[in-house]
Amino acid sequence: MGVPLFDTSTPLAGLREELRAALNSVMESGRFILGPEVSAFESEFAAYCGVEHAIGVANGTEAITIALRAMGVGPGDEVVVPSFTFYASAEAIPPTGATPVFCDVDPHTYCVTADTVRAALTPRTKAVIAVHLFGNIAPVSEIEALGVPVLEDAAQSAGSLADEGLRPGALGTAATFSFFPSKNLGCFGDGGMITTRDERIAERVRTLRFHGSHDKVTYEMLGYNSRLDELQAALLRVQLPHLDTWADGRRRAGSHYEEAGLGELLTLPRPTDGAAPAWHLYVVSHPQVERLEQTLAGAGIGHKAYYRTPVHQQVPMRQWAPQGELPGTEHAARTHLAIPMSPVLTREQADEVVAAVCSALG
Ligand SMILES: Cc1ncc(COP(=O)(O)O)c(C=O)c1O
Repeated sequence: MGVPLFDTSTPLAGLREELRAALNSVMESGRFILGPEVSAFESEFAAYCGVEHAIGVANGTEAITIALRAMGVGPGDEVVVPSFTFYASAEAIPPTGATPVFCDVDPHTYCVTADTVRAALTPRTKAVIAVHLFGNIAPVSEIEALGVPVLEDAAQSAGSLADEGLRPGALGTAATFSFFPSKNLGCFGDGGMITTRDERIAERVRTLRFHGSHDKVTYEMLGYNSRLDELQAALLRVQLPHLDTWADGRRRAGSHYEEAGLGELLTLPRPTDGAAPAWHLYVVSHPQVERLEQTLAGAGIGHKAYYRTPVHQQVPMRQWAPQGELPGTEHAARTHLAIPMSPVLTREQADEVVAAVCSALG
């Protein structure tokens, strides 16, 4: 039969009418930028995360640049970031004037740890970007205990739960989200969000996303034209009430794989302490991953190695590559593979994936 790597359309099937009505309503309203839909979605998303402020921006990459600047990061500063992540986590740092300093990850959780961050700290460290990779939750409070502010890159972790039921977005000094269409909460184009409890940071974010201005007449700082638009906000408002159901579906899909015995064939992703990840990508690892890739391709089973080349080895980042090795990063880069994951992945589909894995590695 084959199993797709992800399925973004089935979860939305029952919402088509509501989505069309939301689109029509914005079209009729004539308000397209920073209107009532964005304000309402910001309030609803802030309440969902359990924070005071949520500010919509154009995408998850600019969200990181803007959040870092609002946290006071600038020229001469260093920002610690994992090398095993999507490129944008690091790409967003140099536009602030600061320098990325790459740290390692735990190859079982794919997240940074307090130890890997500690090894990268210097007197110039101004912030740490803790990426909640694949939906797992990086240990934010342990990192903050090192005495550095944390920006959560929560692009892949909407719907996940941390210790004590806290949500990503409420764990660090500030957090950033992406609503890229394939994300756990995706829009119909690009979109992003910054959350924070800190009123001063929120105010700076609002100014920075609006050309560094309050009124587009006088300008206080060099800013950006970076807004979530009304159409996307209206579509996201329809979806947000369903995010927890979809997150449960992702957790259930992970359980299907476990119950089907996948963990006996290869290494499964390990939730960090206290985390209940809404797996954005379900990323397994095996030393003979090429053999696995070939067999899955032959069986029509979606798979992808997202980060075979760590970020610090990408051409524009080599100037900031660390002197020492990043063994966890290199291991994860060499052996990881994303296999099918979605809120609607069934036990039968998990069985089909496991049977194909078994024929490759069993
Ligand atoms: C971990 C991570 N950070 C940042 C981003 C950037 O988000 P965007 O594509 O919305 O710019 C993404 C997703 O694309 C991501 O997965």
